[in-house]
Amino acid sequence: MQTIRIDKVNKRFGQLDVLSDIDFTIEKGEFAAIVGPSGCGKSTVLRMIAGLETPSGGQVLANGEPIRKPDPQRVLIFQEHALYPWRTVEDNVGFGLELAGVPPKERRYRVDEVLEKVGLSGFQKYFPAQLSGGMKQRASIARALVMNPEVLLLDEPYGALDAITRLTMQNELIKLWRGTGKTVLLITHDIDEAVYLADTIYVMSPRPGRIIKKLQTDMPRPRNRNSAEFVRLRQEIMDSLDIGTYNI
Ligand SMILES: Nc1ncnc2c1ncn2[C@@H]1O[C@H](COP(=O)(O)OP(=O)(O)OP(=O)(O)O)[C@@H](O)[C@H]1O
Ligand SMILES: [Mg+2]
Repeated sequence: MQTIRIDKVNKRFGQLDVLSDIDFTIEKGEFAAIVGPSGCGKSTVLRMIAGLETPSGGQVLANGEPIRKPDPQRVLIFQEHALYPWRTVEDNVGFGLELAGVPPKERRYRVDEVLEKVGLSGFQKYFPAQLSGGMKQRASIARALVMNPEVLLLDEPYGALDAITRLTMQNELIKLWRGTGKTVLLITHDIDEAVYLADTIYVMSPRPGRIIKKLQTDMPRPRNRNSAEFVRLRQEIMDSLDIGTYNI
């Protein structure tokens, strides 16, 4: 399993300062979340950990080694699902296994197992156009899970899901993480989702993004969204994002 270290990272795109002095460590097996306003650089942080982007200053390390390129042990689930429209659900989900040379029989077994986890059993032969939006998103989550990566990087994975599916998927994610000790970094706009899921929550400022708060909790799971500790954490995040006060 992997420790991820973001070491005094800055990022600029041309004239645009996007990230400023980002510094944090996600320990092996930790579940971390980042919340922050739109455009503050959250996806950019994730893309650097995934090896798709390089820092302008500082370093991004996995187990002490600089991350220079994508690695199948660190899988990024994008904000928008990206299924191949000409492939069925099972062929989309099994695509990475196919590339890795996993034989068809084992592939089918692993694909079926993960489709069951995301609630898509029976939809193996469907094409993306025949699925609902939420089902497409679950298929793309299945495609990442089937590779069994050590690090899961989730960029608003549930943003497009309806509220009920979203809650179910949150529980599935916890089950999955608990059983395997994977390192997880979740980006979300949903403060409740962050508090429900994560051990550590980082709050970012508007661009240029900085970490303005780190909150840690060992609330037992499944978490009660109405418990005093939950409500306190939610409020603390809202306060640091400067939400919840307005003048009439
Ligand atoms: N490849 C790129 N080239 C130029 N600018 C970019 C690039 N990628 C991101 N940016 C800029 O960096 C800033 C941060 O983008 P990023 O996607 O990381 O934000 P975010 O926090 O994920 O936002 P959201 O919550 O809306 O998804 C934005 O101003 C964006 O325009
Ligand atoms: Mg983003």
